[in-house]
Amino acid sequence: MSATTTYPNYSPGLEGVIGGVTTISEIISDTSSLDYRGYDVHSLASKGSFEETAYLLIMGKLPNRAELDAFKKTLSEEREVPEAVYTALKQLPKTTHPMDMAKTGFAVLAPFDPDYESAPTDHDANVRKAIRILAKASTIVGNSHRIRSGKDPLQPKKEHTIAQNFLYLITGEEPDAETAHVLDSSLTLYADHGFNASTFACRVCVATLSDLYSGIVTGIGTLKGPLHGGANEEAMHMLMEIGEPEKAEAWIRDALATKKKIMGFGHREYKRQDPRAIYLTKVGKELAISKGQPKWPQIADTLEHVMATEKNIYPNVDFPAAYAYYILGIPIDLYTPIFVIARVSGWSAHMIEQLDNNRLIRPKCIYDGPRDQTWIPVDER
Ligand code: CMC
Repeated sequence: MSATTTYPNYSPGLEGVIGGVTTISEIISDTSSLDYRGYDVHSLASKGSFEETAYLLIMGKLPNRAELDAFKKTLSEEREVPEAVYTALKQLPKTTHPMDMAKTGFAVLAPFDPDYESAPTDHDANVRKAIRILAKASTIVGNSHRIRSGKDPLQPKKEHTIAQNFLYLITGEEPDAETAHVLDSSLTLYADHGFNASTFACRVCVATLSDLYSGIVTGIGTLKGPLHGGANEEAMHMLMEIGEPEKAEAWIRDALATKKKIMGFGHREYKRQDPRAIYLTKVGKELAISKGQPKWPQIADTLEHVMATEKNIYPNVDFPAAYAYYILGIPIDLYTPIFVIARVSGWSAHMIEQLDNNRLIRPKCIYDGPRDQTWIPVDER
C-alpha cells in the first residue's frame, strides 16, 4: 500500500462520508455558515451568552428567562470539583500540558458523579451529567493552571459566568468586562461543529454503551492534536516566530515553498471562509486596536492575503482565536483547553443524541496486507 494507492468505495480520512444524522449543528459550506439547532452562530455569539448556547445544544431549545436563570444557578452550584481531582493533578509533573491535565481531571472526576452508575442510555441522567461536566470544565482547566504554576486551587465564585470563572481562576483577579465578553463569544463559536474529529470520537466511544465521562476523555485526547484543536496554540507560536509585520510576507512565501502546513488555515468542510473565523477576526482586530497591539492582525492580514492568492486556502477559527487570546494575556498552552471548556457542551449534546438512538459505530476496512503466510517456529525465523 502506498500513499497514492486508491481503493473502490474508500475515501481517505472519510472525506465526504456521512457518519450519522444530527439535529445539533449544521455546516453549510456553500454559504460559509454554521447554525446550532437552526440559529446562526453569529447571532448567538454577538447577542447571547455561552450559557444560552450550551443550554440550546444540550436541552434542544433556547431557554426563556426562568429556564436560563435556573440553568445558571445549577451551573454555579455544580462548579466546584472534589478535592481528589486536585490531589491527582498535583501528582503530575509541572511540565504536563493542560490538555493532559484536563484529561486526567475528568477521568478522576467520573466516579464522583452521583449518576455514575446510571444506565448509559438514561437520557435524564445523561443530561444531568452533561450539566455537571459543563459546570466543572472551566474549574478543572483554570485550577490545573494554578496547580502547575505551584499555586493552590481557588474556590470558584458563584456569581461568575463560565468565561469569568476561567479568567478568575487563572489570574486570581476579577476579569474585566471586555476580556470576559471576548472569551464568552469565542466559547459560543467553539461550542459545536458537526461531526468534527473529537465529536465523532466521543460518539464512537459512547456508542459501545460506555459513559459520557469516557467520551469526554476521548474527546479531549482527540482535540489535542495540531490538525484539530491544537492548531490555535501552533498558530500563535507561528505568529510569534514571524514577530513583525514586515517579516510576514517573506516568512509565508518561504513556508509555502518548503511545503509547510500553515496552522490555523484550511478546513475539511469549508473551501472558502470559516464563518467562525470571519466573526472572530472582526473581534480580534477591534481588540488589537483597543489594547494597542495592532501588529498581530497586521501579520495576520499578510498571511491571509498570501494564502488566499497562492493557495486559495482561508483561515479557520483557530487563527484569529490565537491572537485574540494572546492579546487578552492568556498563556498560549491554555488556548486548546479553552476549546475544551466550550466543546464539552457540543460533545455532551452529541453523546446524548447518539445514546438516545444508539447503534454501535463499526465501519469496515479494506485488508491490503500479505495473505497465505506459512507458520515458521520462532527459532527458525
Ligand atoms: N497550509 C498549507 N497547505 C494546506 C493547509 C495549510 N494549513 N491546509 C490544507 N493545505 C493543502 C494541503 O497541503 C493539500 O495540498 P495538496 O493537495 O497539494 O497536497 C490540500 O490543501 C488539502 O489538504 P489536506 O490536509 O489533505 O486537507 P484535509 O481536509 O485533510 O485537512 C486540515 C484539513 C484542517 C487538517 C488542514 O487544512 C490542516 O492541516 N490545517 C492546519 C491545521 C489547522 O489549522 N487545524 C484546525 C482546523 S479548524 C478547528 C478545528 O476544528 O479543530
